[in-house]
Parts: sequence; C-alpha cells; structure tokens
Amino acid sequence: MTRPLLQLALDQLDPDAALQSLAGLAPHVDIIEAGTLLCCSAGMGAVRRIRERYPEHIMVVDLKTADAGTEMARMAFGAGADWMTVICAAPLATLEAAQRVAHEHGGEIQVELFGHWTLEQAREWRALGVRQAIYHRGRDAAAKGLGWGAQDLKLLRALADAGIEPSVTGGLTPADLPLFVGIPVRAFIAGRALYGAPDPVAAAQAFHDAIDRGWEG
Ligand code: 5RP
Repeated sequence: MTRPLLQLALDQLDPDAALQSLAGLAPHVDIIEAGTLLCCSAGMGAVRRIRERYPEHIMVVDLKTADAGTEMARMAFGAGADWMTVICAAPLATLEAAQRVAHEHGGEIQVELFGHWTLEQAREWRALGVRQAIYHRGRDAAAKGLGWGAQDLKLLRALADAGIEPSVTGGLTPADLPLFVGIPVRAFIAGRALYGAPDPVAAAQAFHDAIDRGWEG
C-alpha cells in the first residue's frame, strides 16, 4: 500500500501568517493546501504568493466549489493549483465543468465529502474521471463532539473499492492515525495540529512517524 502523504491546510485568515507558518513547515510536508478560510479571506492573491514561493510542492486550492465550476476552476488553476476541491453536493455538471478546466492545466479535482453523499454518487464521480475525494469530519461537528468510528472506516474502504483515493481530514492529530491503518489513504490533511502547534516541525514529524508506523513497506 502506498505511504500516505502529509498535507498542511493553511486556514489562517491572514496570508502573511499563513506564509510564515509555511516557511517553517514546507520542508516537512508533501502537499500545501490554501484552505477555504484563507481563500475566502485573502483570495487567489494568497494562492499565487504560495505558488511563487513553493513551485515544487503539490498545491491544493480548497474552494469547496458548489457551482460555476468553470470559473472557479479557472481561478484556482490560473493561480497555480494542482488540485481543487468541489463539494459533494454540487451537481455533476459543476464537477464536469471543473474537471475540464483541471485537465487543461494538467490538474485534478477532488470531491469534498461533507454532509450527505452516497456511494452511488461516488461511482458517478469515478465515471466522470474523478480519482480523489476528501473524507471530512467538519470542524464544527468535531467541536460538538463528533469522533471517528467504524462507519468512517467502512465508507473509506467502500470509496477505495469504487476506485476513489480518499484523503482524510478534520481536526486530525497524530494519535488519530492508527485508526486508519489498512486503508489506502492518499493524504492525511492537518491544519491547526500543525500550524497551531507549539513546535510545528515536531508536530509534522509526529505525523510522519505515525504514518511510518502504520503504512511501512
Ligand atoms: C475546513 C477544512 C480544513 O482545512 C481541514 O479540516 C483541516 O483543518 P484542521 O486540521 O484544522 O481541522 O477543510 O473545512
């Protein structure tokens, strides 16, 4: 099984703060995400600044697009995204439109799994050529006590069986990762547990250690 990657989600509202976190963390993560909060607060200008400074990293622009797939994808990929997110509630037409622009740029669309979605939809997304999804425990739901459990693992396995590579996110800490051992996770995505840690580099190392322990070989 391929070793999961580590993705840093930059959800600061201030782009200078995000870039400051990134300066320390970039060598210790595989994927950089311009988070939804950063994109809403600072726009594609912040995405361009990240791309200029870090041309080699995979960069995700997490717009959670619900409509206007062409225009949203032109913004994200025009600013340097490799991957862009479309919310699972979006109509197939939106996904298709975003996917077309992604292909023009050599990029990919990731479906953001949030709230209600079905495996039948996942098969439709796959038929459109989508290869990735983000399995997401919402920040607000987590704050209200939503944990990870057997149902999450069942759905993650079913997604993988449907040919969709899942990344996992939502208040993750290194202590959560053993739960997902045995699942072909593309990337673990962490924001606050990395940039908000007292020692962000040590936190990134703790994620890598947990990944190595669970997915070695
Ligand atoms: C919120 C997001 C976040 O970027 C993602 O959940 C990671 O952030 P954190 O690890 O801080 O929960 O997409 O919608």
